[in-house]
Amino acid sequence: MIVLNLKNYEETYRRIDLLVDSAREAMQTTGVRVVVVPPCTHLSRARYANKEVFAQHVSPVEPGSHTGEVLPEAVKDLRIKGSMINHSEKRCPELVKDAVKRLKKLNLESLVCAESPEECKKFARYRPSFIAIEPPELIGSGKSISSKKPKVISESLDAVHSVSTEIPLLVGAGVSTPKDVEKGLALGASGVLLASAFVKANEPLKFLQKLAKPFEKFM
Ligand code: G3P
Repeated sequence: MIVLNLKNYEETYRRIDLLVDSAREAMQTTGVRVVVVPPCTHLSRARYANKEVFAQHVSPVEPGSHTGEVLPEAVKDLRIKGSMINHSEKRCPELVKDAVKRLKKLNLESLVCAESPEECKKFARYRPSFIAIEPPELIGSGKSISSKKPKVISESLDAVHSVSTEIPLLVGAGVSTPKDVEKGLALGASGVLLASAFVKANEPLKFLQKLAKPFEKFM
């Protein structure tokens, strides 16, 4: 699985359609699941062109008198498949339990981001659909978790598996080459979570097709 967090780069908005279409075509041509995660303002537009869309964040507040929140119900209404929660740039560890519960209740997938193996273990107890380990210092650095911190991947996998072997672990931060992906998969990860390398790629579709290659060995 490849998850593409489009964040809020200038390029995100300048070429949102190209990015969303490339994600769809990459999935069709490689057979690897590719999920695109646009800003909430562009969820509807992304969903129009691609069925594999997650939100960047949801608030587990009940529908009612709230301003500026993205509710799981709204995501469901747009036929979005799920949401990330607790990304390093949108930390809310105290909301993770409720968010996962609400998403589950609505039959939506949940991708919980964690900064350490300890957090992976804690969040695994809530049984999300996926956990992504991302050392914050490597995010956007161009230096990948697989080459700089392979031990964090193995420890995170052990931490998740000590709670449940059913929760797939994704690895993220600095992922930009097929080698990064291959190393992560070889260590037992089920996929990758990335942003800048895709959003800024010269040819996003070709970039993804190359990135997906190592999955052939592990599928
Ligand atoms: O959500 C993915 C992200 O935090 C990693 O960012 O730019 O290092 O791929 P990047």
